[in-house]
Amino acid sequence: MEPLLAADDVHAAIGSSRILHGITLAVGKGEVVALVGRNGAGKTTTLRTFMGHLRPRRGTIRWQGQDITRRPPYWRARAGIAYVPQDRRMFAGLTVDESLEVAEAAHACPRSREEIYELFPVLADRRRQLSSLLSGGEQRMLAIARALLANPALILLDEPTDGLAPVVVEHLLSRIATIAEAGIAILLAEQNVRFAAMLANRGYMIHKGTIRREGTVAELLADDKSVGRYLTV
Ligand SMILES: Nc1ncnc2c1ncn2[C@@H]1O[C@H](COP(=O)(O)OP(=O)(O)O)[C@@H](O)[C@H]1O
Ligand SMILES: [Mg+2]
Repeated sequence: MEPLLAADDVHAAIGSSRILHGITLAVGKGEVVALVGRNGAGKTTTLRTFMGHLRPRRGTIRWQGQDITRRPPYWRARAGIAYVPQDRRMFAGLTVDESLEVAEAAHACPRSREEIYELFPVLADRRRQLSSLLSGGEQRMLAIARALLANPALILLDEPTDGLAPVVVEHLLSRIATIAEAGIAILLAEQNVRFAAMLANRGYMIHKGTIRREGTVAELLADDKSVGRYLTV
């Protein structure tokens, strides 16, 4: 079967700096795949390239078999790709409920805000609060909630656990697991392989803009040399 997303030998540069040197990976329908690697390895650049924010210098990106390498971000969003960036950019001045309302209005999504509040009760409790006043974990949840309202088939999720306290990480991972159980595929960029292992069973290890290993997360974790050299646990 055709994978949902397939990248073949993707090279990308920011200005004159070459950052990605041949990224080849695939995400199947409903699959959770980890993209693990240290800070500066190229995870964010990879996700931005998949979303269309950066145009590859070489290589191909396919979506359900169709070449989308030159498609702009809005096209990809409409086709079912959502991107949750690592930095939390909130709508300044909007409450939680208003920012979800904006996302809901922007897409013809079968999912309603009320369903989102069931998935994230914490957001329901904060619905009248300004989104900029939310805690780090709550802002992460709001960003994921907004992505869900675009009715994606795949979420490109960039280090959702970054900077969060362990108890918040645990809660967030359980929410992401519920999203995955609903059949939404996730490409999860993570520095922490143990967090990635809680969600993904397959993954790729990225180092200096290149995929160095691929396999089950258990295989990646069992490879001591890679763990020492490329990963944070
Ligand atoms: N705007 C930029 N200009 C120049 N270099 C950048 C820029 N953004 C990222 N880089 C470089 O690209 C490499 C990969 O960065 P990034 O994709 O953010 O890695 P990761 O998300 O794995 O931490 C790093 O060496 C980083 O310094
Ligand atoms: Mg990053």
